[in-house]
Amino acid sequence: MKFFLDTANVEEIRRIEKLGLVDGVTTNPTLISKEGRPFKEVIQEIAGFVDGPVNAEVVGLKAEEMITEARKLAAWGDNIIVKIPMSEEGLEAVHALTKEGIKTNVTLVFSVAQGLMAAKAGASFISPFVGRLDDIGKDGVELVAELKQVMDEYGYKTEIIAASVRHLQHLESIALTGADIATIPGSIFPKLWDHPLTDKGIDGFLKDWEAYEKGQNK
Ligand code: E4P
Repeated sequence: MKFFLDTANVEEIRRIEKLGLVDGVTTNPTLISKEGRPFKEVIQEIAGFVDGPVNAEVVGLKAEEMITEARKLAAWGDNIIVKIPMSEEGLEAVHALTKEGIKTNVTLVFSVAQGLMAAKAGASFISPFVGRLDDIGKDGVELVAELKQVMDEYGYKTEIIAASVRHLQHLESIALTGADIATIPGSIFPKLWDHPLTDKGIDGFLKDWEAYEKGQNK
């Protein structure tokens, strides 16, 4: 399973990258706005050191606007993936960009039908939003599982990026669906390796070791 980091914060990416856990990065206009830096500068800096896809999102709503923006974003680096919001205009843009060899990630996917449309239009990635579906009383993980089944059944090469991941249980459940990728906020990562029993175990071993050493030095 691949892990993308869901952030535009360079320090956060560098920290997690040291652990060998970063296969790519996703950003969106909200995440970019939090950094308070020029869009191009941030994306190019990230794309320059991350060994994997770096996602940058268009903001136009018309197909022609999205296509123009996508061409610009794709020229910022060889590993740039252009995020296109799910819509009729978005599908038109994805289809045209795919023919040009520009890779896309269709974002804001909330149903199997939307995912299927995006894959058929030629998207390299689709992003079902797990947490936001849970927020409205639906089961986001179930959508990921269904999309995985459909992609496998019909042999689509489109990779599923489980997005809007909010906690450890999300990640563990997503992993069980066989989703290709989970994109995870930097704040969630430590929760994936921390465990109170691990901390307690280390404390216990260290205390016992100190007592043992004292006994040896008598
Ligand atoms: C990633 O591609 C998405 O933009 C992101 O995961 C959305 O997460 P949120 O629902 O927590 O904003």
